[in-house]
Amino acid sequence: MKKIVLLAIILLFGFYQNSKAIPSSCEDCHKKVTPQIVKDFNRSKMSKVLTCKVCHGEKHTNMNDAQKAKLPAISTCKQCHPQQANQYLSGKHALGLLAIIAFPEFAHKQPEAFIAGQKGCNGCHNLGIVDDKIRDSVKYRKYYKYGMDCQNCHTRHAFSVEEAKQPEACNSCHTGFDHAQWEMWFHSKHGSAYLTNRKAHRGPTCQDCHMPDGNHKVITAWGFLALRLPEPDKEWLNYRITILKALGVLNPDGKPTKRLELVKAANLARLDEKSWKEERAKMINICKKCHSESFARENLKNADLMIKAADKIFAEAINIVKDLYKDGIIPKKPDQVTWPYPDLLNFYEVDTPIEEMLYEMFMDYRMKTYQAAFHIMPDYTTWYGYAKMKETLVEIKKEAERMRREQNNI
Ligand code: HEC
Ligand code: HEC
Ligand code: HEC
Ligand code: HEC
Ligand code: HEC
Ligand code: HEC
Ligand code: HEC
Ligand code: HEC
Repeated sequence: MKKIVLLAIILLFGFYQNSKAIPSSCEDCHKKVTPQIVKDFNRSKMSKVLTCKVCHGEKHTNMNDAQKAKLPAISTCKQCHPQQANQYLSGKHALGLLAIIAFPEFAHKQPEAFIAGQKGCNGCHNLGIVDDKIRDSVKYRKYYKYGMDCQNCHTRHAFSVEEAKQPEACNSCHTGFDHAQWEMWFHSKHGSAYLTNRKAHRGPTCQDCHMPDGNHKVITAWGFLALRLPEPDKEWLNYRITILKALGVLNPDGKPTKRLELVKAANLARLDEKSWKEERAKMINICKKCHSESFARENLKNADLMIKAADKIFAEAINIVKDLYKDGIIPKKPDQVTWPYPDLLNFYEVDTPIEEMLYEMFMDYRMKTYQAAFHIMPDYTTWYGYAKMKETLVEIKKEAERMRREQNNI
């Protein structure tokens, strides 16, 4: 009996020791300067094994030299978490910064605060700051000051796994105009089943489908742009070729351009059958945890067909604008590598209302049509996606007619 009591005391003491944050001089001062940061850090598991200086270095020591504090990169965490870091680096998240840097013509037209200041694109795309070399390089400096990948889901300074597992951990980025996965999931049967009984965990979360078994590599079969090659369906292939020409990935004669290299580097689209099929098979295995395989396949096939339905309308709209360029009704822009096709990668940096409509079709309505189909949200697919595609096509046709009449002074 005595032995057991002694053991219990030792164990309890050990637990007490283990559950205590390690004191540090950094903390002593930061308790006053940034008390909430210290509080958050002290509820993290890591506060029991390391201190502030592991991530921020030891060079900054007083009230006036804070600029000497090191800001962590993925390599900082990789020292102790190689598995998560390597998985993360092999997935799409780590390519987030590249997606912006790869199109400097567009990025440089935006205000600095919008890019480097995290108020626009790079509020979400500061992803892929691999090591100090990248962090400190002059080339990248114009794209960020602050920014760190791993904290995006288990936010600083609690770095909690429990918090990262909540679907809300994804909602600050996967929201809004062109990627409203949060809104779609939240209003879907899945979101509803999950939220009405979190404890039973009936409905799947983002993480269940996109980070199965805690795998930090995120990537899907179709990706953001829903473009893949090769395409066995000939009719669909024709629509896709039109879209790829307007993205400048194929030239007007259908030959690959330099932008295809960027698409490869940023892994923007699955460019062989195998990689598409692999991701699809993984997803079906996830659905099978709760549904029959036939049910899952049927559902995903129908979501694929919504991409085709949207592409049909989109290709028609692109061709209308292309003909306006070809006939000189919209003048060719300097450096328009896609001419006579409009350049979709100008996003909203265009000169005519008809091109603004095309941009909205591309980034807003087309995306919503299929993203909601995959996230089981028919309201978005119907009214915010497909119906808007149809409506905008009518407007684009009318506007093209008007522009032609105006040109001919009718
Ligand atoms: C004597 C007080 C004091 C001590 C000791 C101290 N800091 Fe600070 N630290 C500050 C103050 C004040 C700021 C805020 C400076 C500002 O933004 O004006 C700061 C800012 C920071 C920043 C933010 C830097 C940035 O770019 O925004 C980090 C990170 C940091 N400290 C980490 C540490 C670490 C790690 C240690 C221990 C090695 C430490 N601090 C020790 C007072 C202190
Ligand atoms: C496990 C790594 C890690 C540890 C340990 C850590 N931090 Fe940080 N800290 C970060 C990350 C990540 C950022 C965000 C950097 C960025 O955005 O570029 C950050 C940013 C900061 C900032 C500036 C941003 C802000 O929100 O004001 C301060 C100040 C700071 N840390 C203080 C501390 C203090 C004090 C400690 C110890 C109590 C500490 N950190 C421990 C990873 C860490
Ligand atoms: C010096 C080694 C070291 C570094 C550097 C480090 N960690 Fe950790 N981390 C650990 C250890 C050890 C644990 C396990 C603590 C435990 O389970 O008691 C841990 C635990 C974690 C956990 C799990 C927390 C939980 O709630 O279960 C997360 C998430 C995490 N670290 C993220 C990070 C991130 C992000 C960085 C970089 C900004 C980082 N770590 C840097 C050693 C480190
Ligand atoms: C800081 C913002 C941010 C957070 C938080 C975030 N993501 Fe992302 N996510 C992005 C960006 C940006 C991309 C596109 C990266 C690129 O350019 O390749 C992306 C890409 C993805 C992709 C790949 C889509 C494709 O192209 O195949 C998936 C899946 C994904 N995220 C899921 C998640 C999940 C699940 C969570 C939450 C657990 C999450 N993300 C949290 C910003 C974020
Ligand atoms: C609210 C956060 C957020 C903002 C702001 C944002 N993005 Fe994104 N971006 C994302 C997310 C999340 C994804 C992944 C979406 C998906 O796969 O459905 C993404 C995907 C992309 C992709 C495709 C990457 C790929 O490999 O598939 C490009 C290119 C892109 N964004 C460019 C931009 C540009 C340019 C801006 C500024 C004009 C911008 N983004 C603003 C969150 C954001
Ligand atoms: C897109 C969101 C997201 C990002 C970004 C992210 N994590 Fe995680 N992380 C999670 C989730 C979700 C879990 C819990 C996985 C599970 O157990 O199912 C997790 C778990 C962990 C764990 C605990 C593993 C364990 O076995 O207990 C560590 C350590 C960790 N992450 C480190 C990192 C590091 C390092 C990075 C940056 C390279 C990172 N995470 C980036 C979402 C993320
Ligand atoms: C039931 C599983 C499931 C859940 C839950 C889920 N997704 Fe998805 N997600 C999918 C499927 C299926 C696709 C399309 C995969 C493909 O291309 O074959 C997809 C695609 C994506 C993409 C790529 C672009 C797109 O929308 O088609 C992103 C980004 C994404 N999901 C993020 C999220 C986020 C964030 C959440 C939570 C708010 C979430 N997903 C919840 C199954 C799910
Ligand atoms: C963790 C379990 C789980 C996973 C994984 C899962 N689902 Fe579900 N799913 C549910 C639950 C629970 C419901 C709500 C049941 C109901 O409608 O009564 C549901 C509903 C649905 C519905 C709506 C059914 C209806 O009749 O309205 C569709 C469609 C669906 N799931 C497809 C999928 C697909 C496709 C996947 C894989 C990408 C998937 N689910 C993954 C649990 C899951």
